Amino acid sequence: MNFDQEIQKRRTFAIISHPDAGKTTLTEKLLLFGGAIQTAGAVKSNKIKKSATSDFMDIERQRGISVATSVMTFEYKNLYINILDTPGHKDFVEDTYRTLTAVDSVILVVDSVKGVEEQTEKLMNVCRMRNTPVIIFINKLDREGMRRFELMDDLERKLEIKVRPLTWPIGMGKEFKGVYNLHEKNIYLFKAGKTTIEDERLLINDVHDAVLDDKIGSDADRLREEVELVEGVYDPFDINDYLSGSVAPVFFGSALNNFGVRELLETFVAIAPPPKDRETDQRLVKPEEERFSGFIFKIHANLDPRHRDRIAFLRVCSGRFERDKYFHHVRLNKDLRFNNPYNFMARSKNIIDEAFPGDVVGLYDRSNFKIGDTLTEGESFVFRGIPNFSPEIFKELVNTDPMKSKQLDKGIEQLTDEGVAQLFIHSDGRRKIVGTVGELQFDVIQYRLEHEYGASCRFQQMNYAKACWITSEKPAKLEEFMRAKSRHIYYDKDDNPVFFAESQWLLNSAIENFPEVEFHFTSEFKTDASNFNKGREAI
Ligand code: G4P
Repeated sequence: MNFDQEIQKRRTFAIISHPDAGKTTLTEKLLLFGGAIQTAGAVKSNKIKKSATSDFMDIERQRGISVATSVMTFEYKNLYINILDTPGHKDFVEDTYRTLTAVDSVILVVDSVKGVEEQTEKLMNVCRMRNTPVIIFINKLDREGMRRFELMDDLERKLEIKVRPLTWPIGMGKEFKGVYNLHEKNIYLFKAGKTTIEDERLLINDVHDAVLDDKIGSDADRLREEVELVEGVYDPFDINDYLSGSVAPVFFGSALNNFGVRELLETFVAIAPPPKDRETDQRLVKPEEERFSGFIFKIHANLDPRHRDRIAFLRVCSGRFERDKYFHHVRLNKDLRFNNPYNFMARSKNIIDEAFPGDVVGLYDRSNFKIGDTLTEGESFVFRGIPNFSPEIFKELVNTDPMKSKQLDKGIEQLTDEGVAQLFIHSDGRRKIVGTVGELQFDVIQYRLEHEYGASCRFQQMNYAKACWITSEKPAKLEEFMRAKSRHIYYDKDDNPVFFAESQWLLNSAIENFPEVEFHFTSEFKTDASNFNKGREAI
């Protein structure tokens, strides 16, 4: 197979949802339908138990399991499909944000009973930043859920995207009979508790076929009415609208009952995009370029605390990644080679000799990498679109063992390179703030600092509600602002100034009073301003 064909075969995507909507179940079912696993139950949930009391063992278990299931690769219909796993626990949502930077498309799972939930909205905002194509799967149709036209409105309003149903459900809950495929004009009949994946397709000419009345009785007329309404309300599906991220096709089903998953998979392989061009700070990089480039989107610490090596996950963006070949680490201006790179085919680790755009490669790393680092075949550019997001919880890091200051500094630096949390240092050089999106990270940090670095610390609550990166086209104005707010100005790891506000109200007033200062809610402020403004409210 030639190089271009290799690229065109790749489909790299993530399944995302609010916790409990059915992401893990759907992932497993896609692997089952795709032939990558033979029995349901083979993929163990990678999430920490949802009880409020997740303990350290849970955290450790999570780390262990999620390395194994970080990327699940399988071949289906001559395509090479990479599913990038995302953590199920809400405190780890920042990991999910970052994984979204490494995919070419997304399947979003929504619970039909609950509709669009908070985390779904946040994740969708991240997809929107890069116009990632999204397919929506409405799950749990075997339960009594929201009325479906209401659900469609809920999706459009809260996710700010146009939707286009490609299947339509017949009844729901106990009365759930199946789904009508609006494109192929046939029906799959539902059988609860089905564990096999055989088709139960009812071949009909269209929704007016009399066979329907025999099979689903009085629901047939209702379906006819609803289908007419759907076809009238929604524009015909245009793949280009999906690829540009402006329309999301919608599927209905029940992942637990293997229902509606096949239509989803078949449509996914028919429409999901192969690797796309990617923006860097210098130019657009095309996957088919001869020279290799890629970036690190995730770093995983070794489970064994005696070994400091970590696994860095590299997304290949262009050219051919090769084992033992020197590549250029742009930030460190240093050439590195890797003798044991591996992939995740059939969910086991295999050492590989080469990888292509769209692939994810695991690299053993001894503290060379930070999230967002770019590797190239010589050129000095940096991939854009891998920002840090504004954290939601802020605590001051207090050293409780002054004899171990060095260990603490090193530990916190390495943990924040891994993306466990973000570190902000006050201009006085002493006060340090750790910012996260979830409380659980503070436990993880404290535990790992102690066990891996021998340092001890505690966290002191801080009354900050928002943090934003600040810039201005007029350096004097920025300086004036920073002087006025000096107590609340910290620096991130790249020495960018960050303003901490005690409330949204105080932030708004700062924005009003200093119109020439720009406030950013992700660390990547050179991107298109309209995307920021969306991020502003939401992330
Ligand atoms: P998540 O990864 O998005 O957090 O969700 P997960 O797949 O773990 O599913 C959450 C719960 O919803 C699970 O039940 C799962 O069995 C159930 N579920 C998934 N799909 C469907 C569906 O189509 N219909 C119904 N009725 N339930 C569904 P659980 O009791 O939390 O866990 P478990 O003990 O079943 O693993």
